[in-house]
Amino acid sequence: MYKLKVVTGTDLAAGTCSNVSIVLVGVHGESDVHQLPHQWSNFISGAVKEFNITVNKDLGELMLVRLSMERYLNFQMDPWYCNYVTVTCPKGQRYQFPLYQWIFKSVEIPEGKGVVITKNTHPVLQQQRKLELEMNRETHNGLEVKLNGYALNTDSWHILEDIHLVASLRRSQYSDIVSKIWKEDSFFGSQYLNGLNPTLIKKCVEVPGNFPVTDQMVAPSLGACTNLQKEIQNGHIFLADYAILQGVPANTINEKPQYMATPMCLLWKNPQDQLVPIAIQLSQTPGKDVPIFLPSDSEFDWILAKIWVRSADFQVHEAGTHLLNTHLLAEVFSIATTRQLPMGHPLYKLIIPHFRYTLEINSFARTSLIGPGGVFDQASVTGRGGIPVILKKAMDEVTYISLCLPDDIKGRGMEHIPNYLYRDDGMKIWAAMESFVSNIINYYYTSDEMVKEDPELQAWVAEIFKEGFLQNKCSEVPYSLGTRASLIKYLTMVIFRCSAQHAAVNSGQFDFYSWMPNGPTTMKSPPPSTKGDNTMETILKALPDVNSTAAGISTVRILSTEPMDRRRLGEYPNERFTEKTPQLFIKKFQQQLSEISKCIQERNETMRLPYPYLDPSQIENSVSI
Ligand code: FE2
Repeated sequence: MYKLKVVTGTDLAAGTCSNVSIVLVGVHGESDVHQLPHQWSNFISGAVKEFNITVNKDLGELMLVRLSMERYLNFQMDPWYCNYVTVTCPKGQRYQFPLYQWIFKSVEIPEGKGVVITKNTHPVLQQQRKLELEMNRETHNGLEVKLNGYALNTDSWHILEDIHLVASLRRSQYSDIVSKIWKEDSFFGSQYLNGLNPTLIKKCVEVPGNFPVTDQMVAPSLGACTNLQKEIQNGHIFLADYAILQGVPANTINEKPQYMATPMCLLWKNPQDQLVPIAIQLSQTPGKDVPIFLPSDSEFDWILAKIWVRSADFQVHEAGTHLLNTHLLAEVFSIATTRQLPMGHPLYKLIIPHFRYTLEINSFARTSLIGPGGVFDQASVTGRGGIPVILKKAMDEVTYISLCLPDDIKGRGMEHIPNYLYRDDGMKIWAAMESFVSNIINYYYTSDEMVKEDPELQAWVAEIFKEGFLQNKCSEVPYSLGTRASLIKYLTMVIFRCSAQHAAVNSGQFDFYSWMPNGPTTMKSPPPSTKGDNTMETILKALPDVNSTAAGISTVRILSTEPMDRRRLGEYPNERFTEKTPQLFIKKFQQQLSEISKCIQERNETMRLPYPYLDPSQIENSVSI
């Protein structure tokens, strides 16, 4: 007699009224098909049911269970979300079969301990993994909110303060602060470190030839004791360059042409350890119609120049940093995982929780945000024509270095600048993740050879390289992995990107962008070609129309909303690892994360504008919004 426990998921629609049958498969053979009693409560949402089945032979060690569904009477087949099955053998040994997936017709669930496939793997398991992946490959083949009154208003804003009317439909503590300090140079600079786009800024070792900033220009900012050359040598000069926006077509909104600049902004770490802008040029090509704006210019000249930079930053942030470098990469990782790693593989168990809802949110983004008629078409200068162009250019710039936080920080020369909280908090999380991943990998892979010879793992890495990076060798993204160390780094990168990196560039969107002048989605006058004649009126005329602003703000509001059933970083409520040791590793990881969280929360209490986005207790496990 075998004792079964069958657990249905708790989602409202998880249950099924179909007939369910089971076959137990062991090393000595398999049982007959046993139909489980069809009682209405056996497979309803949240059901935990026990059954006994009689098998007249010794099946030996159990390897998998096969669940099948059939129509009950004339009812339609309805899918069933099964969490797991446990089986207790006549001699008392207990096996767990975790699934946590929808079943549409039938499924084979391997026993829960993670298995890296080798020549010695039982043929039944090899066959199960092959069939599972073949089916997955077939299914994964290749890859509003209306604000009444504002949504239909195609006018310019008349008074800057009116923008509060839209933003105030939902305020956040931080968005209020941003609307008060947005004009401050130190706030403008701090956003390169702790804002939504913290991966663009680089240490400047030489001012680019097409940005002819002179000592005389920056002398009022730097003061008498130093000069540009000295400050470059001290490592105190930084550059934000938006060259990537060159050649991106501009949208037409409300039948008016829109404009995009390709700014270059020089920043200085001053003796108070603030990062402040000291020169802004709004084009990549210098000339007499391309003034270099300075903090010593008139108030409106300088504000307008900074607004233009913020608008360029919005485009690069949303299309490159956010969409491409988190959402779309996570999609590539997710699809390759489903196609190449069977559910019994330890890597599958490790990373699948980090893809929860990613395909769903991306398909929403394709239709409602970046697709024809979507929010970008309605409200952003990039629109549906510009987004693919930025994506293509941003893709060319993605490298393995840029994807791995510690290397990226070093690559941009940003190791030493103070108050770079994206770096400081991110590195702590990276280290905790790396140690968790390394525990798991060293448990399942006892040698580098095992990594090299794991065909499923290698196929997974190769598919990501082929489909995600289009076999671009210059990116230095690995196409195979030969050691445990390289596997640990790769997996840390995948998990970090899908969780912490996305949180850093996603969660603050409402905080930073709901005060529209801090991140205009578009500009509707050309960049200023002269200095001295800009006024508040010029600025209001250049900012997005009322309805574009409303569309932008309502979108960032949605995108900053936490999902109802959020999973925090390191939370794995579905017990995919059934063995004790990996479960202990998970606990340890969670403890480390909660220590990091405590430190960050204590620090944030002392800050005027806190940086909560990389507090592990605020980070989602996956790209889900
Ligand atoms: Fe997002």
